[in-house]
Amino acid sequence: MTIAVYPGSFDPVTLGHQDIIERTAQIMDHVIIGVLKNNSKSPLFSVEDRVKMLESVTSHLDNVSIQSFDGLLVDFVHQNHAQVIVRGLRAVTDFEYELQLAQTNRVIAPDIDTIFLTTNLKYSYLSSSIVKEIADYQGDISGFLSPGIARLVREKLSKERKNEQQD
Ligand code: PNS
Repeated sequence: MTIAVYPGSFDPVTLGHQDIIERTAQIMDHVIIGVLKNNSKSPLFSVEDRVKMLESVTSHLDNVSIQSFDGLLVDFVHQNHAQVIVRGLRAVTDFEYELQLAQTNRVIAPDIDTIFLTTNLKYSYLSSSIVKEIADYQGDISGFLSPGIARLVREKLSKERKNEQQD
């Protein structure tokens, strides 16, 4: 049984992530989405909210489960008896960072391999940070996120704007 871990911040999950999850679920016996807890990027959503959002967009996939994790990715992979890390590659700009991540992980855990899926061309420009920036300026994010997730992002940012106005 081949178990893959698809790790990330997912702040929030985009249609690009969903595409990678669906394609990985077709190739692997089981996919564990690992949501990074301690994120230096100071996430918009709590890890609990990010897990819930991922659960809602993957509920139709029987062989996908979601967990949060803290610490080293390779430790999380070992704890879950997984053999493979999956990452999406959008453009050449991703390559250097992804290569460094994969090679470092391979040095500290030689039994784990990283495989890359090229992102669907439709989503090759897409990132959670870009989506948050557009939403922050109240632009249309409906083409980038599932409808339920887009609603949550709009609500969260509008709450934050109200709080800032009150301060
Ligand atoms: O979606 P992201 O933010 O690009 O995902 C990055 C992630 C979570 C894959 C990476 O930051 C990670 O693996 N963090 C866990 C800590 C770790 O193992 N670091 C050493 C890897 S070289």
